[in-house]
Amino acid sequence: MERPENCILVIFGASGDLTRRKLVPGLFNLYRRNLLPEGFAIYGLGRTELDDTSFRESMREAIHTFVKEENLAEKDVSAFIDNLYYQTMNIRDLDAYIEMKRRLDDISSQKNTGGNYVFYMSTPPRLFGPITEGLAHCKMNEDIAGESWRRLIVEKPFGYDLETARELNETLHKNFQEEQIYRIDHYLGKETVQNMLVFRFANGLFEPLWNRNYIEYVEITSAESIGVGSRGGYYDGSGALRDMFQNHLLQVVGMIAMEPPAKFEATAVRNETIKVFNSLRPIPENEVGKYVIKGQYTESKVRGEAVKGYRDEEGVPDDSKTATYVAVKFFVDNWRWGGVPFFVRTGKCLPTRVTEAVIHFKQTPHQLFGKPSEECYQCNQLIIRIQPDEGILMKFNMKLPGSGFEVRTVNMDFHYSDLSNVYVPQAYERLLLDCMLGDATLYARGDAVEACWEFVDPILKAWENDGDIKVYGYPAGTWGPTAARELFDIPEGDWRYPCKNLAEDGEYCEL
Ligand SMILES: NC(=O)c1ccc[n+]([C@@H]2O[C@H](COP(=O)([O-])OP(=O)(O)OC[C@H]3O[C@@H](n4cnc5c(N)ncnc54)[C@H](OP(=O)(O)O)[C@@H]3O)[C@@H](O)[C@H]2O)c1
Repeated sequence: MERPENCILVIFGASGDLTRRKLVPGLFNLYRRNLLPEGFAIYGLGRTELDDTSFRESMREAIHTFVKEENLAEKDVSAFIDNLYYQTMNIRDLDAYIEMKRRLDDISSQKNTGGNYVFYMSTPPRLFGPITEGLAHCKMNEDIAGESWRRLIVEKPFGYDLETARELNETLHKNFQEEQIYRIDHYLGKETVQNMLVFRFANGLFEPLWNRNYIEYVEITSAESIGVGSRGGYYDGSGALRDMFQNHLLQVVGMIAMEPPAKFEATAVRNETIKVFNSLRPIPENEVGKYVIKGQYTESKVRGEAVKGYRDEEGVPDDSKTATYVAVKFFVDNWRWGGVPFFVRTGKCLPTRVTEAVIHFKQTPHQLFGKPSEECYQCNQLIIRIQPDEGILMKFNMKLPGSGFEVRTVNMDFHYSDLSNVYVPQAYERLLLDCMLGDATLYARGDAVEACWEFVDPILKAWENDGDIKVYGYPAGTWGPTAARELFDIPEGDWRYPCKNLAEDGEYCEL
């Protein structure tokens, strides 16, 4: 694999959770796989009082906690952390950027990084503007043509609605060119999400079937088995639609629905996904109740244990209407997908943790072997499992041995784990490497983020303005509100249930 040019990665928010749990462990994995540049440094910034030594020690501990035992060798960890530096600084203090630049210039000449920088904004979004202004203040925002490059990674959330996403794009564009901006969506860094492209465009078998003629409907589920835990305060201001649907799940829709790009490179791929987002049929505000089901988990008992309802979680108001579950039915109005409904759901406190996309193929035009059993109605399914147990499962019908022609649905199942000696990189690892290589294919472009918000905005507005829209309570440990089944107006159409409901009691109710 290619190694990037020498560079320095500057992390704003290096004393935070993301740096500790994902960024530094991911970078360590790149280091031990010999994929970091020869001349490389990580420069961390935060208000917490640390120096190079204490930052290195805290990152040593993070690596030991978050990197798998089999990938840890103490000598690698020690050699890696020698490349770490830290500056205590308030991001809002413009003068501090001059000190930052002075130190970075020193490190750049020691490591021979030639003025190449990746700036990672791992801070609350309100600081994204001040960081880009600070970088412009010390003249570190622009590429120097033919000499050095500067790239900016933007963490989620990218805006709170269409208006704030537009404002954020405008703010970033004041000091950085679009080609320098890498908006991270860690879903796109997942192997199985990328594999959708290979699966579709490297096999001649499926692509001819990948359209309205053969596909009845497309279903995407992203289920979490846990609740909001201690993040109730943060989550209540966001909810399932913003947290999961607008970004991660619509990106998955983009991969499933896009046309084949002419080449596999950033512009060509992203030109195709934006076409999908621009083809999403808008859901008018006054029809949101018909196409979108909003749910919130209520108390229940799972495996003998009492589970709190969302409104009883720490930091959540007693009368909160925030969605912990959302199911959306929509259409992609283009030649390939005309008339094919997409059903997407995501929720917390569901029976299991799973993310999967299911392509439901149409039934045969004639039932030669009699009326299919209930199980067979949904027989030809292609299930792309994104997490956990990543893989691809195909369901099709076979004859049951013996007399007569009894038909059964069987599985053909591929698990990524079967490729046992192949290392599967974590999403952040892959995305950080891509950015250092200047490959933005798996990052979201500004126009695509805005297009996704454009689709989601009327739903948010209706939830805000229309008091008649119901919030359905579902007992924690179930597959969400029963009303979500009513989105299907296809005979025998339903969600896939990878496992049974787990709630032993609890009530489905309107909140
Ligand atoms: N954690 C995750 O798993 C995760 C997952 C997806 C996305 N994200 C996104 O990643 C970003 C960071 O998340 P996080 O969980 O790491 O948050 P966090 O633990 O709260 O860390 C925030 C970081 O920002 C720094 N910071 C805040 N105000 C500052 C200021 N005025 N000057 C300098 N530094 C300042 C903090 O430093 P001090 O505390 O030292 O001031 C800290 O290092 C957020 O945008 C979040 O939405 C996080």
